[in-house]
Amino acid sequence: MSWDKRLNALLVGGGMISQEVIIPTLIQERRRGVIGDIHISALNSAIIKQCQDLFPNEPFYGYPDPAKYAPSDNQPALYREAMAKLGPHGVVIVATPDHMHTNMTLEAIEAGYDIIVMKPLCLKVNEAHQVIAAAEAKKRYVATDYHKRLDRAVRLARYRVRKGDLGEMLHGHAWIEEPKYMPLKYFRLWAHESSPFEYVGVHYVDAWYFITGLTPKRVAAFGQKKFLPSTGSDAYDAVQAVIEWNDGSVLWVQTSWVCSEKNSAMTNQGLQISGTKGEYWADHKFRNLHILTDDEGFQQINPNFFKHYDSWEEDGDVEYVGYGFESISRWLRDIHALHVDTQHLPEGEELAYRERKLKEWEAGQRPLPRQALVGVAVNEAVRLSLANGNKYVVFDEGFRPRLA
Ligand SMILES: NC(=O)c1ccc[n+]([C@@H]2O[C@H](COP(=O)([O-])OP(=O)(O)OC[C@H]3O[C@@H](n4cnc5c(N)ncnc54)[C@H](O)[C@@H]3O)[C@@H](O)[C@H]2O)c1
Repeated sequence: MSWDKRLNALLVGGGMISQEVIIPTLIQERRRGVIGDIHISALNSAIIKQCQDLFPNEPFYGYPDPAKYAPSDNQPALYREAMAKLGPHGVVIVATPDHMHTNMTLEAIEAGYDIIVMKPLCLKVNEAHQVIAAAEAKKRYVATDYHKRLDRAVRLARYRVRKGDLGEMLHGHAWIEEPKYMPLKYFRLWAHESSPFEYVGVHYVDAWYFITGLTPKRVAAFGQKKFLPSTGSDAYDAVQAVIEWNDGSVLWVQTSWVCSEKNSAMTNQGLQISGTKGEYWADHKFRNLHILTDDEGFQQINPNFFKHYDSWEEDGDVEYVGYGFESISRWLRDIHALHVDTQHLPEGEELAYRERKLKEWEAGQRPLPRQALVGVAVNEAVRLSLANGNKYVVFDEGFRPRLA
């Protein structure tokens, strides 16, 4: 049977980032002819029902099906049934809690699918090496959703730094800070096993690597536990890390998830870079646009992340625009191109084509596994430094961290 040139997609997750970003992205890409069937697998049917209620006119296959399973009947292995139904032109999107990424990604590679994983790719460098080995053996595309790479403010920094306009890197300062409701409400169950650095700080580690191409040499981390312990949680309120890179430049990353819930935007964030010939400074929270309403008060808006607009394609429709959308859709389109370009090739030639293309992409801007490894390595190094009295952590040639 001839292929209709649409990829069937399986989203494993269904939680916050799925509902706010991934599902609308898949729906829009289905409208645009890139995606065919959408399958969504979550831990239980209550979550599938939430997704159905949020997108009532957009059909998808849900696992567990609310018509057959009780809302709280957890079905942690049902994603495998969904994976088996994708057919030869499928993509798997992994949006489960961080510690589940590795196994689900390895299973999807083994089943022959191309994959998009929410950041971080894995929690441990050794796990990331397993993903690298499996993806390279099977010639599968595995992108990590480091959405800052698609933010025009970050792309601009990359372009100008790579052109040499800022000269050699001296130092940088990144800040990213979330409101208290994240560890108190959304991540209550696992906040103590993670930290604001691992959850959001890693975005700026990856951004520095993306912008400069430098790799980390040494890390020391600091953390504070003052507010969250007063609520019965053992999680860090805030974590900071200083990262020395292989050219001797230094990035200071400052993170927190106990900011005021009355903040004018969800996330404080920005980046400053100093070089020998110039500097870059960007407030990634305040993009010079605010809305003030009786119902919601004063809000500073980032129009670049994931916003709803009136569509140019169909009057009356909504169009999703921004780097949140692009950092899924761009990888979907890479995967789509791989399938279209190889559809008539015999298997040996298809694999050779894939290998060539994947190597070419990984040497460039795509967050394929060897690139995603850098964020995983710094996250693991931060954990190691925090657990050892803020000692310096260094890396071996495979970016495995160890105390200096
Ligand atoms: N790139 C970004 O901006 C960004 C933002 C937020 C979260 N994330 C990452 O995305 C991932 C998901 O985050 P979230 O905020 O949506 O978390 P969440 O806790 O809201 O959702 C996780 C979902 O995983 C599902 N799940 C758990 N076990 C499962 C199983 N065995 N089979 C199928 N589904 C299962 C649960 O149903 C839950 O809905 C995390 O890795 C997080 O770090 C990325």
